[in-house]
Amino acid sequence: MWAPNLESLLQLAILLRSSMAPHQEERKAAMDALESFKIQPEFLNYLCYILIEGETSEALESHFSAQELQNNRATAGLLLKNTMLDGDNFTKGIHDIGYVKANIIHGLYNSNSALVTNVTGIVITTLFSTYYRQHRDDPMGVQMISNLVELALNGSESSMKTLSKIMEDSAQFFQLEWSGKIKPIDSLISCFLDITANGSTTAVNRAESIKCLNTVIPLQPRSFSVRIDEFLNSLFQLAQNDDSDDVRVQVCIAFSGLLKFRPDKLVDNLVGLIHFMLHLISTVKEEKVSIEACEFIHSFCTDPNIPEHIIQPFVTDIVPVLLTKMVYNEESILVLESSNDDDASEEDKDEDIRPAAPRIVKKQRGDGESSDDDDDDGDSGIDESDVDTQWNLRKCAASTLDVMTNILPRDVMYVAFPFLKEHLNSERWFIREATVLALGAMAEGGMKYFDDQLPQLIPFLVEQLQDLWAPVRKITCWSLSRFAPWILKDHTEFLIPVLEPVIGKLMDRKKDVQEAAISSVAVFIESCDPELVETVLYDELLNSFNRCFEFYKKKNLIILYDAVSRFAEKVELDERAMKVLLPHLVNKWSSLPDNDKELWPLLECLSYVATSLGEKFMPMAPDVYERAFRILCHCVELEANSQQDPTIVVPEKDFIITSIDMIDGLVQGLGSQCQPLLFPPIGDNTLLQVMLQCLQDPFHEVRQSTFALLGDIVYFFEPQLLASTLSQFLKFIGTEIMHNDDFDGIPALINAIWCLGLISERINLGEYIIDLSRVLLDLFAAQGQPQDSAVLENLAITMGRISITLPEVFSNGIFASDAMWNRWCNALQDLDSLEEKSSAYMGFMNIVNLVGDHVAISNETLKNIIRGLSINVDPTPFAQSIYTFLMKHAERIQGLKFSQEEITFLQQFSGN
Ligand SMILES: *[C@@H]1O[C@H](CO)[C@@H](O)[C@H](O)[C@H]1NC(C)=O
Ligand SMILES: *[C@@H]1O[C@H](CO)[C@@H](O)[C@H](O)[C@H]1NC(C)=O
Ligand SMILES: *[C@@H]1O[C@H](CO)[C@@H](O)[C@H](O)[C@H]1NC(C)=O
Ligand SMILES: *[C@@H]1O[C@H](CO)[C@@H](O)[C@H](O)[C@H]1NC(C)=O
Ligand SMILES: *[C@@H]1O[C@H](CO)[C@@H](O)[C@H](O)[C@H]1NC(C)=O
Repeated sequence: MWAPNLESLLQLAILLRSSMAPHQEERKAAMDALESFKIQPEFLNYLCYILIEGETSEALESHFSAQELQNNRATAGLLLKNTMLDGDNFTKGIHDIGYVKANIIHGLYNSNSALVTNVTGIVITTLFSTYYRQHRDDPMGVQMISNLVELALNGSESSMKTLSKIMEDSAQFFQLEWSGKIKPIDSLISCFLDITANGSTTAVNRAESIKCLNTVIPLQPRSFSVRIDEFLNSLFQLAQNDDSDDVRVQVCIAFSGLLKFRPDKLVDNLVGLIHFMLHLISTVKEEKVSIEACEFIHSFCTDPNIPEHIIQPFVTDIVPVLLTKMVYNEESILVLESSNDDDASEEDKDEDIRPAAPRIVKKQRGDGESSDDDDDDGDSGIDESDVDTQWNLRKCAASTLDVMTNILPRDVMYVAFPFLKEHLNSERWFIREATVLALGAMAEGGMKYFDDQLPQLIPFLVEQLQDLWAPVRKITCWSLSRFAPWILKDHTEFLIPVLEPVIGKLMDRKKDVQEAAISSVAVFIESCDPELVETVLYDELLNSFNRCFEFYKKKNLIILYDAVSRFAEKVELDERAMKVLLPHLVNKWSSLPDNDKELWPLLECLSYVATSLGEKFMPMAPDVYERAFRILCHCVELEANSQQDPTIVVPEKDFIITSIDMIDGLVQGLGSQCQPLLFPPIGDNTLLQVMLQCLQDPFHEVRQSTFALLGDIVYFFEPQLLASTLSQFLKFIGTEIMHNDDFDGIPALINAIWCLGLISERINLGEYIIDLSRVLLDLFAAQGQPQDSAVLENLAITMGRISITLPEVFSNGIFASDAMWNRWCNALQDLDSLEEKSSAYMGFMNIVNLVGDHVAISNETLKNIIRGLSINVDPTPFAQSIYTFLMKHAERIQGLKFSQEEITFLQQFSGN
């Protein structure tokens, strides 16, 4: 059995004490000395010894005070954990951990120090997540689990807490076979079920054991399924009798988990369950309990497997509870009441600002709509003030009301309306506030049914913008924006009466209200027709932005940039806009250093403004480009160097992304005019080299933006620019299409495909076409997992574009089939870009004509092709090819049914 050398033990303990010393120099010296200890094979055993035997070792006791020893033990434990976590060395096995494995568990019970016990638990958890996961054949792992189980069954809370942490980290690994073909999950489940059912154990143990089972529910192992009724029984018992908040939280989570994975087990008890949850929401003071209960209701309403008619009978019970709980809780009310004073002239503190936070809407080519990072899931707009930044009952209730109204608008309104009407004019501001919140939450789902109510409600809401209480003004800005679709669709008579007062609130004396107002204005701009913005709102918005730029402090400026971006994206900015907006942006731009994160939203905004101003931006372009390019090069260089030198601090990726987007904004705005800027006539193609490096970046967004820039360069500039780098770019495009199967990487994939299509239209792909067309086709024809529709659409466009010149690559092999052609047409059915759809069909008709009689075209596909050609396609450049096709199938076409649009299209060709 391993035992420490006493001298080394003392030396290490003294170093540990020094490593926590108040003097920096002493600390530093101790840290350095510890580094040399770290590579000793027995280092971890020593640390473990100090952690678990610190109080029993005479050598230690005689040298340290009791307090010192306790700290020393905790320090040793944390260092042990950290060394296991971060050392390559640990996984390489340079350390002997025999002593640790055999003895660490003693630390759970041989100390009166809660700190030592807790640290021991953490070390054990880490031992499982690092070592045992990879060494499941080590019998000590199974042994340790069985020891922990035994202790937990005997009532040990520290063992139970440790098991709970281990399960949280590693539950799925216990389903595998460990040493001796044992699947530890079985004995663990049995242990947790027993403790859950054991009325004489502590509440902590019951809560933790249910928590453990909650990690098991999604895995659905057999040993759980066979005892699931037993579990349910315990849960119902506890729901009735246990008044521990921790237990109740876990009980609610368990029911939510079962609802999702084993709804069959709950259907018969739904009435009881819903009432139990509503009871908790209404009566329990502890918010973490009521949140989980509300989460259950939320899951119940959103679960795709639960049909509406099951939910409907509960509406009358649920809605009133939700409405009452949307009022700020007492604490928040106190905070808000004490901070209602105007603060518009106070500077923002730097730590309050999260420049990464505003939605930087990434440009996405091809199909812009499908994955706009629009996190608008109903609750995103609900509140962000200081008291309200975390998920809370109020938000959960609002979000649940939102989804319920979407499912059962009539029923919800029927219950909610009388209630809300009664409180609209409450004396108490927080009741008025909650009422406005509720109306906003119900807006989306209830839109259709609001028709006869809104003419009275809207003026009421607008009036609330003048409330003395800032939270009411704030929520009203948000609520009104939720009605934007309704107003803009059929009730434009409300647009000015609503938007004007909201614009007025841009200059509110309270910063929170400014923020809500600018976000609300941004929503209106985004949902509005360009013509409407241009004719009715243009001047007013411009003037307000102008004032905001002078009035706003840092934090709201960032949100203002976002609103200006949307404005610039929606309308073409004119001279006046340039005079008003540019000076503000340029001033800011000059005042920020290259490494300031505030540059991100500003660059993003400038890039939209540049795109929108077009040529008018030219005078600014050289300075803007030079700086964006400098930042880009600097970051890319640091990245590259950091590969060799890990001490280099790599700047955040957003510097790279926003600089590329800025350059892309220039290309889109200025077109070929800015080619000399990006590619000086002396043949400097540094930009392309930098882009090649960016395409190797593991961050999807870096590649996404780079492919977008590449596409625009190809589109607007002379194609020869790419000559010397073409093969490398094509290689990265191929890699992206073949290997990016990450869901979050879809926008990068789309941009790569889109970009390839543009390249193929302008540059001869030569020898690369064989491989690239195969890669495209593989993805296009991939069976199995449902394809993202935007990916499919872009694949279809690019295949079409390639076939304008090279139809033969798709005219034999798997694409030469009726089913594939049908799939191709379907992929494009929602495409509304005339240019893209025309190019795509031009190439496609080449393929179809080339294949000729080898494919027997079905009536369905025939109709599909004609439908595709008749909408959003300019047939002029390939009329001959369409004519050939139609002639060939003329007889059959005669017998098919067509829509008016299709008939009009066909008539153009019948005269020929
Ligand atoms: C790993 O061991 C090497 C020497 O073998 C040492 O230089 C290095 O600092 C150790 N790494 C860590 C993270 O402890
Ligand atoms: C240790 O204490 C922390 C803080 O109280 C707690 O979050 C953690 O779960 C505890 N860990 C164990 C294993 O008991
Ligand atoms: C179980 O706990 C009791 C008291 O808490 C203790 O005396 C006994 O030794 C424990 N048994 C085991 C097997 O750990
Ligand atoms: C219930 O738990 C206690 C320890 O908390 C234990 O002593 C007792 O044996 C358990 N009862 C059953 C039936 O397992
Ligand atoms: C296709 O349409 C023609 C009429 O144009 C019809 O005669 C033929 O039966 C149809 N074929 C099928 C398989 O429905």
